[in-house]
Amino acid sequence: MVLATSNRPLIHFTPQNGWMNDPNGPWYDAKDELYHLYFQYTPNDTTGQLDLHWGHASSTDLSKWTDHGSVIAPDREGEGIFSGSVVVDYNNTSGFFNESVDPRQRAVALYTLNSEDAQVQELAYSTDGGFTFEKYENNPVLEVNSTQFRDPKVFWHEPSNHWVMVLAKSQEYKIQIFGSTDLKNWVLHLNFSAGLYGFQYECPGLMELPVEGTDEKKWVMILAINPGMPLGGSANQYFIGDFDGYKFTPDDHQTRIHDHGKDYYAFQTFSDTPSEDGVLGVAWASNWQYARHVPTDPWRGSTGIVRNHTLAKVPGNPETDLLTLVQTPIFGESIKRQNLFKTLNHTLYKNESISVSGNSTGVFDIEVGFTLSPKELNSKQLQVSILSNKANGTQEEIKLGYDANAEAFFIDRGVDNEFNKNVFFTDKISAIAEPLKTDKDGYKTYKLRAIVDKNLLEVFLNDGVSTITNTFFFSSGHLPASVKVGASADGIYAVDVKVDELSLKA
Ligand code: FRU
Repeated sequence: MVLATSNRPLIHFTPQNGWMNDPNGPWYDAKDELYHLYFQYTPNDTTGQLDLHWGHASSTDLSKWTDHGSVIAPDREGEGIFSGSVVVDYNNTSGFFNESVDPRQRAVALYTLNSEDAQVQELAYSTDGGFTFEKYENNPVLEVNSTQFRDPKVFWHEPSNHWVMVLAKSQEYKIQIFGSTDLKNWVLHLNFSAGLYGFQYECPGLMELPVEGTDEKKWVMILAINPGMPLGGSANQYFIGDFDGYKFTPDDHQTRIHDHGKDYYAFQTFSDTPSEDGVLGVAWASNWQYARHVPTDPWRGSTGIVRNHTLAKVPGNPETDLLTLVQTPIFGESIKRQNLFKTLNHTLYKNESISVSGNSTGVFDIEVGFTLSPKELNSKQLQVSILSNKANGTQEEIKLGYDANAEAFFIDRGVDNEFNKNVFFTDKISAIAEPLKTDKDGYKTYKLRAIVDKNLLEVFLNDGVSTITNTFFFSSGHLPASVKVGASADGIYAVDVKVDELSLKA
């Protein structure tokens, strides 16, 4: 089973041809006002097993991407340019630049060179604003005689006036923090280990986020694990704490889950973005358990939507508020939005539903707010169905919603076709979120937002305090075509539904 190219996601980046996994080195060029995204890439193969390159894409608005193909390639057969990051070396601390390169475009890439014998960290710099890179002649800049030492995420830490590198000593379960003043010489400051182990640590990161409603900022350490996460395969976790430029000190011993779906991995933040209201980041929307088998061609792999990140105190349960990551999807100016349906304060009765048909793009932004009455609460389920067009006489459906009996949100991406038989393509997934509001009579209010893009579903619960990202694969010829919002019982009140169909402006 191979899907038609009409199934290619529209507002998520996919390479035109070939394979992609992790996003690498996203950064913002403030001179040309252009976002850059690199990614793990094999140009002529969709299995990601050949020598990995960095591919390159750019965008003015984070929604419409131009694919520029391979930008950093391995020099020798059997080697791979593995994950890493890009910094803007504004003050030319590395000495790679002269006056001819605008300070805002002094891009330096730090990546892992993978070979059979070792994983080492290398530098490459760009004098044309990130479109081509020159490898540093004295590479590697960091080696420790290990084959499991990778994924440098580097950023400038202003208070301590140096570069910080966070990377994974993968199979020793260590996140290592190094410091440097010139990007070339690195000193180890910390070994940090926490949370779930799985098989190995990958793609760590650190970001400083505003805490909503306060003047405070806190640091968040991100960590990818693969394989061995509870849902199977790969997933990201995070820890909240303080960072002084050398040492990360977590506030508590809790592992928090970044996204509850099966397709959100190897997250990385953008360098040098203009916003003060949070930090932008992007992930790979797949899972190593089945990434190499998904039925797309001539591409395989895509990013998740770019998200803004903040922190907020939200209830973990009725008795305790927890500091939690809040994720908000970014929609750029190139997106054309057509409202298909809008209702406010509607009451849904048992087995009643609202059906909304799209035109043809297969891309939707769906927002549903609702309030459950306390009477016979256990029987209440709010369901949102994404239905395909009718092709070959069949219609396919995936579902999401909230179940009051289980007090949980859910996704069911199961479709009766060949690919869905893959034993690792877990179809049912749930996540919890406390009500946004419970009034004095026990009425509970929740919200969900679902972004559907051809074969990707990203769900944001209660304004992003929890998210679920899953790919799904309708059979060939079937595309998301309509949306149905329904109730399993009486007493679902104040239902606000907004369904927009999205496309890209010409
Ligand atoms: C994570 C990862 C990284 C590595 C890259 C190789 O998905 O395994 O640790 O650098 O992918 O493509």
